[in-house]
Amino acid sequence: HSVAVLGAPFSKGQKRRGVEYGPKAIRDAGLVERLANLEFPVHDFGDLSFQHLEKDDHFMHVPFPRTVGRATQQVSGAVSRAVGAGHTSVMLGGDHSLAIGSVDGHAQQCPDLCLIWVDAHADINTPLTSPSGNLHGQSVAFMLKELQDKMPDVPGFSWIKPFLSARDLVYIGLRDVDPGEHIIMKNLGIQYFSMRDIDRLGIQRVMEVTLDHLLARKQRPIHLSFDIDAFDPALAPATGTPVNGGLTYREGIYITEEIHNTGLLSAMDLVEVNPLLGGGPEAVETTASLAVDVIASALGQTREGAHVTLQEIP
Ligand code: ARG
Ligand code: MN
Ligand code: MN
Ligand code: MN
Repeated sequence: HSVAVLGAPFSKGQKRRGVEYGPKAIRDAGLVERLANLEFPVHDFGDLSFQHLEKDDHFMHVPFPRTVGRATQQVSGAVSRAVGAGHTSVMLGGDHSLAIGSVDGHAQQCPDLCLIWVDAHADINTPLTSPSGNLHGQSVAFMLKELQDKMPDVPGFSWIKPFLSARDLVYIGLRDVDPGEHIIMKNLGIQYFSMRDIDRLGIQRVMEVTLDHLLARKQRPIHLSFDIDAFDPALAPATGTPVNGGLTYREGIYITEEIHNTGLLSAMDLVEVNPLLGGGPEAVETTASLAVDVIASALGQTREGAHVTLQEIP
């Protein structure tokens, strides 16, 4: 198999500047060189280009709806083509609204996919429950079939049809969930592991239950949507909505190692790296190089080391 890297320099799913420079920061931290050490070809397809639409009035209190709708539609097409061509797709954000397009495009090729959402946030607000209006906090609501009758027609999003069932989603790392989101998660019976759950169970048990929940009935393609703010802000300071008490480095890498070991990872997102935040170049380098570690580990870089079959001791 091979890997396709797709940059998505886009920020209109939220109101802060800078997250559109995420793909460049992650590439500058050595992504492609690091992936070249692994055993498959890497194709960097460069960055998508997005227009900011001039006439794009708020919908309720949701800013830039048509701009975000267009961008996510473009991402959907790009990811669908990449997966259709046989690549494992790696989408570099950009803000987390882009996952609407990434998961949709993946689902067009793999309708039976399941979704692992690693994040401090659930990003499952509807426009009616969202305190901020920001679409990066609503991505999952656009995907879920069970929320169809709770979703108003947001301008720019008529192209998308909900495609995911609540039972095909697991959250890991939650610690900042809005009241409306909590109602939705509880009502739909979504499987989630908050930071408290990780404290209680340990990351090993969390991954065991996660993969069992998604794969016990049948083996199916995995989509990993990884928001860098899942990590503790000490490790990932350059991000727009940091929340204290996040994943340790080892918990984060254990998650991606376990996902790699299933052999079922078929597309992933790495989002919300914002090089204009975090307090300077050192903070940005720490955050971006963590992003590279997450991606490399999801694609098979191991901590225990590896060798090619039949290789001899020199
Ligand atoms: N729950 C808050 C909101 O809906 C924060 C969402 C943060 N999302 C993110 N992808 N960083 O506005
Ligand atoms: Mn988040
Ligand atoms: Mn997120
Ligand atoms: Mn492999």
